[in-house]
Amino acid sequence: MKTTNIKRLAACSAAAAVGAAFFMATATQPVHAAAEPIGPKLTPRLKQMLSEEMLSVKQSAKMILDGLLAGDHSMVATQAQQIHDSFILERSLTEQDKKDLMKAASPEFLKLDGEFHQTAGKLAQAAQHKDYELQRFYYSRLVESCQSCHSQHATDRFPTFSGAQPEGHTH
Ligand code: HEC
Repeated sequence: MKTTNIKRLAACSAAAAVGAAFFMATATQPVHAAAEPIGPKLTPRLKQMLSEEMLSVKQSAKMILDGLLAGDHSMVATQAQQIHDSFILERSLTEQDKKDLMKAASPEFLKLDGEFHQTAGKLAQAAQHKDYELQRFYYSRLVESCQSCHSQHATDRFPTFSGAQPEGHTH
């Protein structure tokens, strides 16, 4: 059962060569990794729903910024609540949609989605309490959610995130 170092080395490099060939063959295909974009795995119906949700989230995020700049607590509260309530998983998904989503979405994606909507809820609360500082804090957390999910799960839609540092650097 003893293998000489030479033999072991040879076996190793053979395995490495096979590995490299496999890697090259699959490099252009989406590899099964946590950072795989979710979009192509969604059913057309779910992709459409996600896209609509994202466009409305973007609209709300802009209005929240307007509200923050103007000290308009009720604008911030209303729009943040809207993001919170738009939770794709809590909306009127059919049983089939839910199954399809569970098949496509990784646990990491679902976790980020959950945290994102939770942050929106906390932002709405901070606005209801007219707490400016906390609103700024949760707004920045919200933007962080957009970036971290897009950079991990939507690099097909936002290719400029590919190869980017997960944490933003300041200039
Ligand atoms: C949990 C993950 C996640 C979070 C959080 C998230 N997004 Fe997205 N977003 C996606 C995915 C995935 C796509 C690509 C969907 C596709 O393949 O069409 C996307 C796409 C988009 C698009 C493009 C929509 C289109 O069809 O043109 C916009 C705009 C967008 N997101 C805005 C936002 C904003 C603004 C935030 C934060 C306030 C945010 N997203 C937070 C996952 C997320």
